[in-house]
Order: sequence, then structure tokens, then C-alpha cells
Amino acid sequence: MSPKGSCAARGSEAIHARLKQLLKQRGLAETEVRACSSGCLDTCWAGPSVCVEPDHVFYGRVTLEDLDEIVDALQQGARVERLLLSADDFETPEPLRKLGRKGDQTAS
Ligand code: FES
Repeated sequence: MSPKGSCAARGSEAIHARLKQLLKQRGLAETEVRACSSGCLDTCWAGPSVCVEPDHVFYGRVTLEDLDEIVDALQQGARVERLLLSADDFETPEPLRKLGRKGDQTAS
């Protein structure tokens, strides 16, 4: 595994599947919210990462247990403050910077 970490290694595929299921159960999937997977969002060390667009909301360290709260927030037009990535989370941690491109990750 990459030194940067990997969302997939932390369960992102199960999180994506469960998020899609919750959105469908609540009737959001057809009209309001689409759960798409993506390539790496370049916050691997804080993954699994979830980006809500066009709201520009970035969640990190998301677990299956967080998804009901995330979907609640989507329904209410709110955000889950405790899961928001900080400005520091968008900076590559120093030990990884020293590794250079060897730490690159290509898929979430
Ligand atoms: S942010 Fe998910 S693998 Fe990089």
C-alpha cells in the first residue's frame, strides 16, 4: 500500500455502496443526490474522503457509521461539522513530502 494511505484500503467501496443505498431509501437518489465514485481526491491520509458538490464540502475519515448523519445533513441542506476536513488536512504531511512521488496514490 502507498505510504499516503488509501481510501479503498479503509473501506471506501463499502461506504460508497451504503451511501447509494441510503440515498435510494430516502428518495434522494432519483432527484437530488448522486453518489459517484472518483479517483484519488488527494487527501489520502485523511480518507476515506467524501466530497459534496456543488457545495464544496469535503469530509474525511468517513466510516459507515457516519453515513446516516451525512444523508440527514444532505436532506436538511446542512453539513456535518465534525467530519469536515481542516485546512491542514489538505496539506501533504511532512513525512510524505519527503518521499516525493513515491507516495502518490492513483485511486480512491
Ligand atoms: S483521497 Fe482517497 S485514495 Fe487518495
